[in-house]
Amino acid sequence: MPIRTILLAVTATLALLIGQGSSRADDKAAAAVASDDNGKYADKDGNPTFKIQPDGTVDWHTYSGYRRFNSECNVCHGADGAGSSFAPVLAESLKTMSYADFLSTVAGGRKNLSNGNDKVMPAFGDNKNVYCYMDDLYVYLRARAVGDLPRGRPAKHEDKSAAAKQAEDSCMGG
Ligand code: HEC
Repeated sequence: MPIRTILLAVTATLALLIGQGSSRADDKAAAAVASDDNGKYADKDGNPTFKIQPDGTVDWHTYSGYRRFNSECNVCHGADGAGSSFAPVLAESLKTMSYADFLSTVAGGRKNLSNGNDKVMPAFGDNKNVYCYMDDLYVYLRARAVGDLPRGRPAKHEDKSAAAKQAEDSCMGG
């Protein structure tokens, strides 16, 4: 089965489980770290989240998301998710967008051709440089939206865990 089909199937299942289409407000309290799996953090609902220490040190995945976002997404969404005349300010979108909606939008893309609009969000479901880093992109943008993460490259970050390295290698190689 092609990876894209698998990813979309997983996304669809997740969306059903979590309740796709339900827009919910996110905030710092909802995004608080409730569990730590080798430096991959999750909130109380099990959704990926960021961790920012008082001195500004971010978790590895937030840092990785910063780098991926500013190579794959910034051309339309603006540096650091600050938006452009063409595509939405993702640092705002993620205040109300669920994890499931994020996954399905990025994997499947979205066309908004109403009212002579020609804006298209490409589907990234078959682009390894994006789907191998889906959660990193999500936690980075979540940190920008509700975690007070400033614009620009985070100055300090946690080390990359062996588990993160292994997951990346197997996704990029497979
Ligand atoms: C070619 C330009 C382009 C690129 C590259 C792009 N996007 Fe988009 N994106 C758009 C447009 C345009 C929309 C709005 C579509 C609409 O109006 O429905 C959008 C919408 C979105 C939304 C929904 C936002 C909302 O408020 O509903 C998310 C989430 C998103 N993009 C994430 C990403 C991520 C993550 C990347 C990088 C992997 C990315 N996009 C790369 C053009 C782009």
